[in-house]
Formats: sequence, C-alpha cells, structure tokens
Amino acid sequence: MPTLAEELIGLKQRHMVPCLYHFYRQPPVIVRGEMQYLFDAEGRRYLDAYAGVTVMNAGHCNPAIIEPAIAQIRRLQHTTTIYLAEPIYRLAERLTALIGGGIDRVFFVNSGTEANEGALLLSRLFTGRTGFIHLNGALHGRTALTMGLTGLAMWRTDPAPPPRLFQAPCPHCAHCELGLRFGSCGYACVEAVRAILREQGDIAALIAEPIQGNGGIVVPPEGYFERLQAVLHEAGALLIADEVQCGFGRTGRRFAFQHSAIEPDILTLAKALGNGFPIGAFCTSARIAACYTRPGASTTGGNPVSAAAALAVLDYHDEHRLAERAADLGAWLRERLEALTAGRPFVAEVRGRGLMIGLELALDGRPLPALADWLLEEMKNRGFLIGKTGRGREVLAFMPPLVVERADLEGLCAALGELLDRVPPDGAVPGEP
Ligand SMILES: Cc1ncc(COP(=O)(O)O)c(C=O)c1O
Repeated sequence: MPTLAEELIGLKQRHMVPCLYHFYRQPPVIVRGEMQYLFDAEGRRYLDAYAGVTVMNAGHCNPAIIEPAIAQIRRLQHTTTIYLAEPIYRLAERLTALIGGGIDRVFFVNSGTEANEGALLLSRLFTGRTGFIHLNGALHGRTALTMGLTGLAMWRTDPAPPPRLFQAPCPHCAHCELGLRFGSCGYACVEAVRAILREQGDIAALIAEPIQGNGGIVVPPEGYFERLQAVLHEAGALLIADEVQCGFGRTGRRFAFQHSAIEPDILTLAKALGNGFPIGAFCTSARIAACYTRPGASTTGGNPVSAAAALAVLDYHDEHRLAERAADLGAWLRERLEALTAGRPFVAEVRGRGLMIGLELALDGRPLPALADWLLEEMKNRGFLIGKTGRGREVLAFMPPLVVERADLEGLCAALGELLDRVPPDGAVPGEP
C-alpha cells in the first residue's frame, strides 16, 4: 500500500505540469494549520518557519481573520467592481491610510504577479515610455513581463522574454558584482542604473524589492534607495517597490520601504495582505493614478471575501503590533543565528531585517545547495519547516508567522545548532561520501 504522500506524489506526476516542484525528499502531507504551526496527516506538529512563503504573517487559520471571512462568504461571496459592495472600498480606505504619504489610490488584483504587471502598465501609461529596469537576483512573477524582469536564472523560463527590459546590478555589498567595497564604491550600482537610463532614454520604471526574498534575503546598503529614486526621478522614470514578499510587518516596519527615506511611486502588495486569501494590489498617488482612466477591472480582484479577510488582517496587525514583534523577535533570532554559526567556515553570512532572515551556506564563495537541502530535510524531521532561497539555492530562509513565540525560535535554534555541529568544516553533507 502506498503512503498518502506517495499517492499524492503519483497524482502530481501524472496530472500536474512538471515545473511544480516540492521541498523535501520525504515531504509531509499537511492537513491542518494553527497559528505558527502546521500538522501533517500523521499528527506530527511542525513550526512553520517559512509562513507558506511569507503569506501567513498573522498565523494559520487565525480565528480573528477566518471568522469575518466565513461570515462574508455566508452573506455575499462575489460581485465585481461593476456593482457596489462595501468591503473593497473600505479596504482601499484602510490600506491607503496605513501606507500613508502620498499613496492614496489602489487597484486590487489576485496575486503578486498581477500586482506587478499592473504597476508596470501604470508606469508606462504615466510616462509614455516602454522600457523597464530590474535588479539582478530579483523575482517579480510568472507572466511574460514579470518573468522577463526576474533576475534569477532558475525562474526565467520564458525562452523569448519581451524586449526593452534591462538588468542592473544587485545591491548586495557582501557579494558586490562590480567588485567594489561599500564606502569607496560611490554607489556604482546606482550609477549603473543612471547609465542604463541615459543610454536607453525610454525607461518607464525600475522595479525592485526593498529586500530581495528569492534572491537570498538581500538588504541593500544604507542610502541605496534614496539615491536610486533620485536618479530615476531625474530621468523622469518611476520607482516600483515590490513588497509582495517583504511587506506587512515582516521586516520590523509595516512596509519595508519605510527603512529608507523614500516613498515609492508605486507599491505592490499581495501574500500577507490576505493571509491566505488571494488578494494583491498596486498602490500609487492620485497624480500617477490619474493617467489610468480607460476601463479596467479584475473579476475576482479584491472580491468581498478576500477584502473582508484583508480588513481583518489589518485589524489583527494593529491590535497585536506584529511589525514590532517582528523587529524584536527578529533581532533576537538574528543574534542567535550569528552566535550559532560563528567560526563555521561553511556559513558565509547571516543577514536580513526583522523576521526575514537568511543564512548563506557557502565556502570560499562556492554555494552549498546540497548542504541547504540536507539541513532543510533534517530540520523538517525535527519539526521545523524552514525555507530555501538564493541565486545558488544556498540560503536558508527564516520567515515564520509573526505570531511566533520566542520559545518556538529557541527550539528551532537548538535543533539547528545540533545539526550544524555534525557538518564538517568543508561543508560536506554529513553521512555522504
Ligand atoms: C517579491 C515577489 N514578487 C512577486 C511574486 C509573485 O507573487 P505571486 O506568486 O502571488 O504571483 C513573488 C512570489 O514569490 C515574490 O516573492
């Protein structure tokens, strides 16, 4: 008799498109979620330290979020914006108040990809230009345009990306691709953007994650975004901040752009906005939004159920001060991870902000993805689901729901410490030749 996991993998192989991969050699079958925990079909409990890829910031099946959504389902499940229904407009009002500054217009969609696609379109309408710049290491989605603007080889599947897309260097000082040192580099990575703007002349916008998620939790240096936006504005181009992954409290501020003294021209959101209910948004100023007047609609974007859930998400974040929690617990976790990994030559860097922390496994600049896979599998066997990102799939990602408790993270660190003790200095996978 095959196990349930084996049966599901069989169905997947026979009926799903093969690009859909899963973590783990022996994946658990997840059947239930409860705040920071997931449970498998055999009743084992896991600390979800990846939050369903940073979606469940307010916890799995959080009653404060699902009950209003269930009530909304019973009352009214779907209309579109061709009729008036209350939740979507209340959400637009709440969300823009929360973002603050000059951002006061929203378009709701279903996903992060769609939010970015909409933001890119808006920037074309506003500037009357066609080209875009993205950063090496970025991930922005799966449509032709957003995949073309993705700077990670493994996610760039389209063999014929759209034209007029340009890649600028990733602002990751520890691995400066221009071979420079922060302090004496003159922000050469921003100057590279200036050069593209000058040479191409037709750039509508640059899209960037304030902290790169899939690129390996990359935090740009102090002053980067301020200079970048100034250079873009000088050339009449816009800055689109993609906070699909790093938004909603994860980095210790409500939005990650708030770590710098900028306000993006367009901000894109998804994932944690719905805390498991599908919703995304692109948000901008009245001035920029004013150029988008031809009819537009998203059939299920911001539908009453997702909007009701998102309103409850925003309430929960406020009441439980999740961003502050992320800042405090994140500082503690980062310090613990730094202490655990100090003196281990196969750990290149621990980095991140708030509860968005990456641990890079590399030896003398050589990524160690097999070690990352081993640690992921062994941590899972001990009840901890952690993530994996990075250009070389060598960065362990610690991004738990922001409702996580310190005791959970202590358990995680203890398990990780025991495993790291088994890894030899050359980073070889224990037990393998
Ligand atoms: C930064 C970023 N942008 C966009 C996306 C695409 O979002 P979605 O999968 O909701 O389309 C992702 C997904 O991981 C992401 O991390």
